[in-house]
Amino acid sequence: MSPFKFIMEESERRKGSRIVLALDVIDEHKNLLAKAMGILGDAYEHICALKINHHLVLPLGVFDGVKKILDKAHDLGLPSIMDCKANDIGHTNRVIAENYYKAGFDAIIANPFVGWEEGLQPIFEVAKKMSRGVILLTYMSHKAAWEGYGQMVYDAASGEASPQYLIFAKKALLWGADGVIAGATYPEKIREIYAVLRGIVPIYSPGIGMQGGDIEMALSAGAHYLIIGRSIIDAKDPAETAKRIKNSINKVLSERLGSRP
Ligand code: XMP
Repeated sequence: MSPFKFIMEESERRKGSRIVLALDVIDEHKNLLAKAMGILGDAYEHICALKINHHLVLPLGVFDGVKKILDKAHDLGLPSIMDCKANDIGHTNRVIAENYYKAGFDAIIANPFVGWEEGLQPIFEVAKKMSRGVILLTYMSHKAAWEGYGQMVYDAASGEASPQYLIFAKKALLWGADGVIAGATYPEKIREIYAVLRGIVPIYSPGIGMQGGDIEMALSAGAHYLIIGRSIIDAKDPAETAKRIKNSINKVLSERLGSRP
């Protein structure tokens, strides 16, 4: 098993949680770092990993404020994921990956639209060298996802027409990705992607709560980790909310599914 998959499974087991907290804190009063640290410190017991996005990277800087958050996450036993959706030519992708991994991120999210050669190959090479993870987009959670990820395209491997997201799922297997992203807002797409990945590559699913996704539908379709941001960080009591969501997930897993999807 790859190092990133292993630390995620370990963290899930220790925490009894499948929540990846999207720490998308916004604060106009220059208290951003303190606010982000506070939410992490309150909610860490109920989550299995942390995901950071540009909400923190742009104002705080990767090697300054964000690094402090990553150090704290690691002290609390939490793996961290950078949601940069890397999407450039190979030379630039290599620099993106090296910098985020050097700052302490355990995995980064990348976009398979750019392909392998001179595209994502350098990211996978850096990840292997540094024992880190790569998570690929397959179907995003927003309304217009169908315009790109849902297109019917020619599958060069099979010679047949196929939805783009299923080709991306097959590439996740072929390239040895540590996870894929499929929006909880489209459980039917998760189900199809799961049929390709068969649990070999875990599905990370954003879009629960604020974007309309449903915990039970996403898990039943095959999502493994649920990425949750605003429903927790904007709650009056983020720790209590994270705990409640964790318990709902575990209830679905034990009552409805009996075992892992
Ligand atoms: P909310 O507040 O909607 O936060 O619970 C969700 C977080 O996940 C990001 N997001 C995505 N990231 N692929 C990704 O890689 C997606 O399809 C996707 N949809 C949402 C969002 O930016 C936020 O950080």
